[in-house]
Amino acid sequence: MDDLKNKYLTAIADAADENALEELRVQAVGKKGEVSLKMRELGKMTPEERQVAGPALNALKDEINSALAAKKAGLADAALDERLRTECLDVTLPARTERRGTIHPISQVTEEVTAIFADMGFAVAEGPQLESDWFNFDALNIPGHHPARAEMDTFYTHRAEGDERPPHVLRTHTSPVQIRSMQAQGAPIRVIAPGRVYRADYDQTHTPMFHQVEGLAIDKDISMANLKWVLEEFVKAFFEVDDVELRFRASHFPFTEPSAEVDIRCSWEGGTVKVGEGDDWLEVLGSGMVHPKVLEAANIDPNEYQGFAFGVGIDRIAMLKYGIPDLRAFFDSDLRWLRHYGFSALDVPTLHGGLSW
Ligand code: DAH
Repeated sequence: MDDLKNKYLTAIADAADENALEELRVQAVGKKGEVSLKMRELGKMTPEERQVAGPALNALKDEINSALAAKKAGLADAALDERLRTECLDVTLPARTERRGTIHPISQVTEEVTAIFADMGFAVAEGPQLESDWFNFDALNIPGHHPARAEMDTFYTHRAEGDERPPHVLRTHTSPVQIRSMQAQGAPIRVIAPGRVYRADYDQTHTPMFHQVEGLAIDKDISMANLKWVLEEFVKAFFEVDDVELRFRASHFPFTEPSAEVDIRCSWEGGTVKVGEGDDWLEVLGSGMVHPKVLEAANIDPNEYQGFAFGVGIDRIAMLKYGIPDLRAFFDSDLRWLRHYGFSALDVPTLHGGLSW
């Protein structure tokens, strides 16, 4: 037994890799291994002999198994050390220009919008993309029978058969974040909420997933005049010009009263879009004074507080600012398009440093 022990412990210590180790395991303690064969001989021994040889063989088997396990761990550590030595990557090296990725125009514009509103005292709020129909509709004064539910081409989720609860929806707008942030924070409040929204629609200016940024300002003395000023400041800062021609159109949204839609003058010549000139108008946002019922749904007293809200199409204003003619290209992941329209990761948009350069 001592011979066996010495033979295997030495061999295990000398094993060069996991394959050699596995071979040794089979030879020693495998089904037909030397130790296992010895164990079979126990049957032929007298009870007295067996009482000595049995425990000794078991101990030998345990010792070999532990040596195998220890050696295996040692080999794995050595292999990891070797990999760490050879596969090191110096992350401080400058990127290779030809492989450098770009910031997607949607991300860029979201950062630009956030920088502008942060400067006016708006914090960033978030909500889930999979939303309950209460937050997406009811709390925003859009009851079950309201035509706006049908108009929005909502994506509904599936409920199991027999489950009577109303299905969740992919949020059709960022407006539910108004309710969530008012519930969480109360009034006064000043937030924007950028994010993805979903509607079943597809053409040159509509995709089933797109982006909005919601704005909300609630306090004790907020009027439509504040709304108009904030929107004009925003549009001028965003397009980086002293003047942009805006059109405020009286409109209707269930969650605002009164409501206004805002269009920007533009032209669509030769497949490219130009802002500030031409005979076309592109609708970029909806806005208005928050409806008292919406405040109530968010547990805010409409006799004490009032304020404005707006929803901007991020993709729309990105198309306008950067002359991108087809919305669908935003989501094609075409590398040539991304290189052309993308932004440098190192130029973070700020108001003082410049938004887009
Ligand atoms: N939620 C509206 C939409 O998706 C946009 C909107 C309009 C948001 C008016 C607002 C608002 O906050 O006041 O069409």
